[in-house]
Amino acid sequence: MCGIVGYLGKREALPVLLQSLYKLEYRGYDSAGIVLHLKDDLKIYRKKGKIKDLELSISSKHRSSTSGIGHTRWATHGKPTDRNAHPHTDCKGNYAVVHNGIIENFHSLREYLLKNGHILTSETDTELIAHLLEEENGSPLDALKKVLKKILGYYALGIIHKDFPDKIWVARLGPPLILGVGEGEYFIASDYNPILPFTKRVIILEDGDFAEISFEGLKIFSREEKEVERGINCIDWDPVMAEKGGFKHFMLKEIYEQPEALRDTILASIPDTESGVRLDEFNLPKRINRILIVACGTSLHAGLVGKFYIENLVGLSVEVDYASELRYRNPVLDKNTLILGISQSGETADTIASLKLGKEKGALIFSICNVKGSQIDRLSDRTFITKAGPEIGVASTKAFTTQLLSLFLLSLQWAKQKGMEIEKYLGELQKLPLLVEKILKKDEEIQELARLFFKKEHFLYLGRGLNYPIALEGALKLKEISYIHAEGYPAGEMKHGPIALIDENMPVVAIATQDTHQKKMVANMEEVKARDGILICIINEGDLEIKKLCDYSIEVPKTDPFLQPIINIVPLQLLAYHIALKRGCDVDQPRNLAKSVTVE
Ligand code: M6R
Repeated sequence: MCGIVGYLGKREALPVLLQSLYKLEYRGYDSAGIVLHLKDDLKIYRKKGKIKDLELSISSKHRSSTSGIGHTRWATHGKPTDRNAHPHTDCKGNYAVVHNGIIENFHSLREYLLKNGHILTSETDTELIAHLLEEENGSPLDALKKVLKKILGYYALGIIHKDFPDKIWVARLGPPLILGVGEGEYFIASDYNPILPFTKRVIILEDGDFAEISFEGLKIFSREEKEVERGINCIDWDPVMAEKGGFKHFMLKEIYEQPEALRDTILASIPDTESGVRLDEFNLPKRINRILIVACGTSLHAGLVGKFYIENLVGLSVEVDYASELRYRNPVLDKNTLILGISQSGETADTIASLKLGKEKGALIFSICNVKGSQIDRLSDRTFITKAGPEIGVASTKAFTTQLLSLFLLSLQWAKQKGMEIEKYLGELQKLPLLVEKILKKDEEIQELARLFFKKEHFLYLGRGLNYPIALEGALKLKEISYIHAEGYPAGEMKHGPIALIDENMPVVAIATQDTHQKKMVANMEEVKARDGILICIINEGDLEIKKLCDYSIEVPKTDPFLQPIINIVPLQLLAYHIALKRGCDVDQPRNLAKSVTVE
């Protein structure tokens, strides 16, 4: 989704802004732009396509500027074109605005501005903000206060004015906006990644905040227009964690980082095996009699595995819902419900809206999230922070496996709270990172499979029980980065429809590791074989009986059935990666997708 950057200080602004934009590339975008404050003028560059194209179009003579703002755009109102790229200006070219979000009263504001004689040069909602600012008298800060009252919707805004080279204004309602505080300089960005190379000291603006940033300091105002203090946080992510570190793609690097991410997540919850799981702050109040998991995409798939964990280990009833559906229903929620939001980014608009809805109805809000200080973290009563580190590849990998692990750890804590025996799981948990390392050694074997299948246009993924969500996730990985049509299905449902698709051209990925569902899974695999489908199976090491049935198999180490999904997804991530690579796809920034989906 759109990304905002900004700089005000003593350095050359252009290299800072460009570097910052590159750091936001992973979020997904289709055009980019920059405005630099020159002596008494604004110099704007906008380009459809990649930041590289924007960089090439920028004249080196503007390198003396020490303030400016920049933007990566993911089209909402208007096609991705140079003209629709941000920044946008008013008729006189005084204000330049970058914006992330959606202005919902776009049509009425556009009509009003046209009637008032404004010349609109783009199809965007953002341009309207520049013209609305132009309409107001007084200082830019006063103008901003008035304009924020007129716009409905969601925004993170960066604004500069031609006559104020030493000031930048920002505002947020919905999409995140972070301020980096250096020595006599300020950085602005939609997430931590652009800021971390310069400073680890950040201020996270609250919903409804707006601010004036200047050399004299920072003035932050709340939605009620009261000047407020927002504390400075120190971010412990190392900027190097967000580099490729010798890997061809972020996605591959992140797949390989899974053993470490799992180890760190275990260590944070089980400091030593003797004391066991130490997550007392997540204990459930007695009144909680049901859990509702809300999430989107990969995080929702983690939630489906979590349902198994909680129902089996804790004995509480669990529902899992798409956040984009739940928020528009009238769900039955009360103080006896725990809503558990799952989100890597912590900024997914639908998940945020569902959690807010739950809060309004009195439910207790917990979340599993990878980004401390994100909206979801801050609106939750308790947040379990996964230790995946920054995830840059659009296709979620290490965030998913750490979400599964976090759900398992929380379930163990809740089972312990109910007086159940959980010690037997601790040994297997400690071995988990090593088992994942073992699978990574199969990379070449998986590349060979990718070579055989990368030209296929359809795939079916099947699993049962805990492996059904893994089938969904395996299929999602493949479709999002290779653009192959892939469907995940509960294997037992195949006979109710999808079986019609099976013939000698259809690859069927069957997740058939040893658990209580395996016999049933074998029966479904036989059904595929009987129709000449091509069976590619995930099986446990040495499971010769089932191996005979498969056309191709990837053997994975055996662990406790609850932990097996964390192992089983890894070869499917690698398979998707290598197939996408062979098809020449942009693995880290797949078409049409964004890393943080901050609009509904
Ligand atoms: O940041 P979140 O976990 O809330 O994001 C949810 C989905 O947008 C995300 O998982 C998406 O499906 C990924 N592209 C999957 O790889």
